[in-house]
Amino acid sequence: MDPLKVLIIGGGVAGPTLAYWLSRIGANITLIERSPNMRATGQQVDLRAHGVPMMQKMGIEAAVRAASVPEAGTQLVDVRGRVKAFFPAERSGTGMQSFTSEYEIMRGDLVRILYGLTETRRNVRHLFGATVDAFTQDDERDPDGKVHVRFADGRSEDYDLVVGADGAASKTRKMMLGPGAPDPRFRRGSYIGYFSVPAAPGDSDRGTFCHLPGRDVSRVVGTRKDRADLTRVYMIMRGKYPPLDAAYQSGALAELKKAWGDLYQDGGWECRRFTEALRHAPEADDLYCTPFEEVRLPQGGWSRGRVVLLGDSAYCQTAGGFGCTWSLVGAYVLAGEIATLRARAGVSRSEAVIQGAKNYEERFRPLATAGHGGAQIFDYLFLPRSPLGIGLLHACASAAAYFRLDRKASMETRVASLKLPDYPELEGE
Ligand SMILES: Cc1cc2nc3c(=O)[nH]c(=O)nc-3n(C[C@H](O)[C@H](O)[C@H](O)COP(=O)(O)OP(=O)(O)OC[C@H]3O[C@@H](n4cnc5c(N)ncnc54)[C@H](O)[C@@H]3O)c2cc1C
Ligand SMILES: *[C@@H]1O[C@H](CO)[C@@H](O)[C@H](O)[C@H]1NC(C)=O
Repeated sequence: MDPLKVLIIGGGVAGPTLAYWLSRIGANITLIERSPNMRATGQQVDLRAHGVPMMQKMGIEAAVRAASVPEAGTQLVDVRGRVKAFFPAERSGTGMQSFTSEYEIMRGDLVRILYGLTETRRNVRHLFGATVDAFTQDDERDPDGKVHVRFADGRSEDYDLVVGADGAASKTRKMMLGPGAPDPRFRRGSYIGYFSVPAAPGDSDRGTFCHLPGRDVSRVVGTRKDRADLTRVYMIMRGKYPPLDAAYQSGALAELKKAWGDLYQDGGWECRRFTEALRHAPEADDLYCTPFEEVRLPQGGWSRGRVVLLGDSAYCQTAGGFGCTWSLVGAYVLAGEIATLRARAGVSRSEAVIQGAKNYEERFRPLATAGHGGAQIFDYLFLPRSPLGIGLLHACASAAAYFRLDRKASMETRVASLKLPDYPELEGE
């Protein structure tokens, strides 16, 4: 059998994971990434729920553990720095995670580990600084139909399968949906921004979050710590603040720094130090900012023919806590569904790809979108802005910490009961 020829667009978390699974069934894979080198940046991410057995299946648990961030837990403090609630990290090994999971890792380290799985595989090529300009595909009934891809450098090539793993702002999705299609990104009216500051002696090794009253928008500031010399600052805001919209639109680092700095400088707690650093410290040049958004494609909308979306491009929920987990799981399910059909007699190459993509969505969609749509509840519960609302949150959090509700009431219990399929075609070699 001729190998399946696959183009994967996007070398984040989902793309390299899919390259790994498809390489195991002998596919000929090209993985392209827009940036000129591996984009191993970003802050702390984690693996939880089905992401844990997934990582074990991929044989990277030891590597992930070795690179993991030893966060002691998560705490809420008030504007004077007094601890209001503390949720210890989960170290039970049961797979049940608290806010701090057992597998906290810097995004860059995870991306490097995932690339490492296919770097030396002869059937996987990694190309950097490459993008796709356009594609067309043959009729779905054509058993040997291809996707005809034109790259930005003018080259053209044909593939059996093209996968868009190019993130929430996916250009592949835009091209797949075609001109005039509505943008499936649903904005929740909040932003998250992160940057690094030089460490100070009192910085906690717990994830620490502080709600700031005193403005007509909700503001949260937090810190997390993965190394001694730096502290990572998180800012989450919700509400109308036009300067931030404008800065995000422009994408200019200086404008983003100014907008966040102006919004947070009078917030109390460590805000003055953080915003000073944001303005003047070179460490803060890593500022990364994104709106909270959900990609809500209609049923059956994750693929069109031989072009399929995976990861944030298909089902993003910004900072929902499952971005990396669902990237790993989604890649496994997509590869597994295609592999299953490929192994079946009488199924054409086209059918395996097209039907496999549909099966992947059908099986995985309930999991991937389990957390979608909870925007309003989330915002009211976790982003109060009045002193009274913040006080209430602290009281509830303190009670929740006492009863360990973080372990019991999380989405994990709900989604964990949804079973993942096993794909014997992908295992063993
Ligand atoms: C730089 C960066 C920092 C991040 N930081 C955090 C963080 O701190 N915390 C957190 O929870 N989540 C973060 N995320 C998001 C998180 O990685 C994803 O939610 C999750 O891992 C899903 O992964 P993904 O592979 O679907 O998408 P992503 O991880 O977003 O990867 C998409 C990849 O596709 C590439 N790409 C985009 N467009 C094109 C194109 N047209 N052609 C080719 N390649 C393209 C991007 O450069 C990127 O490498 C970050 C994402 C990025 C890109
Ligand atoms: C894999 O595809 C590349 C082009 O994308 C081609 O040059 C190479 O010969 C192919 N390898 C096999 C084993 O088919």
